[in-house]
Amino acid sequence: MIRSVFRGGGSALPKNVVTNADLAAKIDTTDEWIMERTGIRQRYIADESETTATLAIEAAKKACEDAGIDGSTVDLIVLATATPDNTFPATATKVQDALGANGGIAFDVAAVCSGFLYALATADSMLRTGMAKRALVIGAETFSRILDWEDRTTCVLFGDGAGAILLEAQDGTEDGPGILCTRLHADGEHNELLYVDGGPSTTQTVGHVRMKGREVFRHAVVNLADVLNEVIETTGISADDIDWVVPHQANARILDATVRKLGIDPTKIVVTVDQHANTSAASVPLAFDVARKDGRIKPGDMVMFEAMGGGFTWGASLLRM
Ligand code: UT7
Repeated sequence: MIRSVFRGGGSALPKNVVTNADLAAKIDTTDEWIMERTGIRQRYIADESETTATLAIEAAKKACEDAGIDGSTVDLIVLATATPDNTFPATATKVQDALGANGGIAFDVAAVCSGFLYALATADSMLRTGMAKRALVIGAETFSRILDWEDRTTCVLFGDGAGAILLEAQDGTEDGPGILCTRLHADGEHNELLYVDGGPSTTQTVGHVRMKGREVFRHAVVNLADVLNEVIETTGISADDIDWVVPHQANARILDATVRKLGIDPTKIVVTVDQHANTSAASVPLAFDVARKDGRIKPGDMVMFEAMGGGFTWGASLLRM
């Protein structure tokens, strides 16, 4: 049995921190409203020198270093983003070049906030079928570039950043480490609840994020609880077997409501939404990196990733460290 085994991780954040108070000085909002409705205290916003690729490259290099491998030996890079540096080529190819891993496979995945889960599932499938041996799975975003800074219902919610993990194909055993199960879903019927109002083939502009927040919230709790349940039932584990839940960081209230529905202890949720806000595809690997580096997530732990985003798209994945 070939398993995709976690070898190392890394993350990157822009230099500039923007607090709720900073935003309240510019737009009609308050620290209290943002904190109460979302749990967000601050977000990191890229400056002109920072792009999705520069953040992704920094995170990828740290993941290789953490794994103790030379970046040039990576033969697969799957990068999830909704804010690529260019419409094409894929931002993953910029990361590949920066690592000196030229010649392997590199491409981007577009599933917005669930992008990291989609990228993880893709890399896992390719590793297990022998197409590659060492994969970097990256979530990287500069969402600040597609925000309408006059729309207080969206601009206070998002931030920029990147996270990366290095997976390696290894001979595995039933109770050994690796990705145990991933489930993904999409439902295009809900395109209009969370989307960007521009693009190369329609407006020839990048557009701005538009969201019907309350409706997205409602769907998120139901879909996430369903997909988490699917992974739990497929693997035959119980809620108690999960050591950590590393969710997409959209809203502290969603995280709490989702795990409570499944009877998972809320103290097992890794929460970084207060620090990073919603960084779309970067939020899961960023949160994972924080909890690994501060010693919470340890070898042998069962870690559940979950995310939901525009499309709608959603998914969950169980990793034994
Ligand atoms: O990452 C992809 C997935 N995304 C999500 O999961 C996001 C899901 N949705 C949410 O997290 C929440 O729905 C929001 C945080 C976006 C909004 O919270 P809410 O409790 O659903 O508030 P609401 O949209 O129902 O708005 C409540 C009120 C409105 O005023 P009225 O109509 O009641 O007078 C808004 O105009 O809050 C007002 N409001 C604000 N007030 C101060 C909206 N944005 C702001 C703001 N500051 N920034």
